[in-house]
Amino acid sequence: MGMSRTDCFILVRFCFCKKPPHRCEAIPVTRKTANHTWVRLRTDGPGFVSWPINQSFSPKRVPPPLALSFSRSSSDSGSFVDSKMAETKPTMHAVWYDSYGGGPAGLKHVDIPVPAPQKDELLLKLEAISINPVDWKTQKGMLRPVLPPKFPHIPATDVGGEVVEVGTAVKKFKPGDKVVAILSHLKGGGFAEFAVAKENLTVARPPEVSAPEGAGLPVAGLTALQALTQAAGIKLDRSGPLKNILITAASGGVGHYAVQLAKLGNTHVTATCGTRNVDFVRSLGADEVLDYKTPEGAALKSPSDKKYDFVVHCAHSFPWTVFEPNLSECGKVIDITPSIGAMMTFALKKLTFSKKQLVPLLLTPKGENLEFVVKLVKEGKLKTFIDSTYPLSKAEDAWAKSINGHATGKIIVEP
Ligand SMILES: NC(=O)c1ccc[n+]([C@@H]2O[C@H](COP(=O)([O-])OP(=O)(O)OC[C@H]3O[C@@H](n4cnc5c(N)ncnc54)[C@H](OP(=O)(O)O)[C@@H]3O)[C@@H](O)[C@H]2O)c1
Repeated sequence: MGMSRTDCFILVRFCFCKKPPHRCEAIPVTRKTANHTWVRLRTDGPGFVSWPINQSFSPKRVPPPLALSFSRSSSDSGSFVDSKMAETKPTMHAVWYDSYGGGPAGLKHVDIPVPAPQKDELLLKLEAISINPVDWKTQKGMLRPVLPPKFPHIPATDVGGEVVEVGTAVKKFKPGDKVVAILSHLKGGGFAEFAVAKENLTVARPPEVSAPEGAGLPVAGLTALQALTQAAGIKLDRSGPLKNILITAASGGVGHYAVQLAKLGNTHVTATCGTRNVDFVRSLGADEVLDYKTPEGAALKSPSDKKYDFVVHCAHSFPWTVFEPNLSECGKVIDITPSIGAMMTFALKKLTFSKKQLVPLLLTPKGENLEFVVKLVKEGKLKTFIDSTYPLSKAEDAWAKSINGHATGKIIVEP
């Protein structure tokens, strides 16, 4: 059996440029589908390695069997057909859980097939993933029966990566594009080397925005944006009237974006956080900072005696009676962590046509909003502060850190 020029080039590239820690021997190419061709490389180990051609070779994990898949860039003669290869699928490292509960110990490391994109989806090689509390709340069963729809479930939805394959209906992206995406909350998929993302929830990532900076944005950044611009009506070009805003848990994922975004508008921002984060939150632009462990912080009382027009409430467990005396005449609490008590307050305030209101907020992710926050990061108007970074092999440590509830900014996992 012989090989075409293209096949030789690809093998040379992998053997010499990407430096896999194996002796690579060319085994002829087999044409498996209309879109893909498969190469397998014999290694000096016990099997073969699977790796998509458009991605850099990672010697960290070499699961047998190993098959290399790629999109052909030149004529595909189809002269090499290996029936065994036609059955081999490329695999990847992923982390999933297969029942409710268990916390970090419930996460399992698995080698599973690389997912295939549907026609309106992209296959991404992930470079960074960020964790949100909703990820481990889902594992706890707090969102059952909706999430997860089935087990096993690969958690995490906020990712930065590179496009390696596009579905037939995808128009805006091509292999090699760097992107930020929010994956389906139903399907998850972020704790893995590869994931599929919908085209409409994927945006280009410019070189000025690193993969971790981008991956921090989707849930936390879009929630902060939605709370401020949609629920509170703040105009981020400073064109609106001055508004007094309180942001609770301003050191967290949502809060740290909320402070920065609020200060792009015409606002006076009071923020709450723990003692160790007071300087950090001030550096984000907060006009005044309350330590939540002090009596004034617990009472949410503005040091300059301001009454809040809006509260972006990212912390937990504040009864209405604490908010009420601090609100302006038509003040609104935008509650992103509504408890049952908060839902009752919401209903009561609506029914009684109260001027002061509590509004529960649930994120509606939109591609255009993701594009907007990525642009703000590119322009240096918004920053992702990274609390800590963990390799995917230590995903349970990242998980524990998030469950612990004391992150400053975003927790990042890297495959
Ligand atoms: N409704 C939605 O669509 C939506 C969207 C996103 C997030 N959420 C929810 O919003 C909440 C916040 O999310 P996140 O990603 O920002 O969480 P996070 O990053 O885990 O928040 C951690 C931060 O909160 C601070 N904190 C905790 N309790 C506080 C308090 N009483 N006062 C002031 N600061 C406090 C911690 O400071 P210390 O370390 O000093 O304690 C820590 O810096 C979560 O419950 C999440 O599920 C809802």
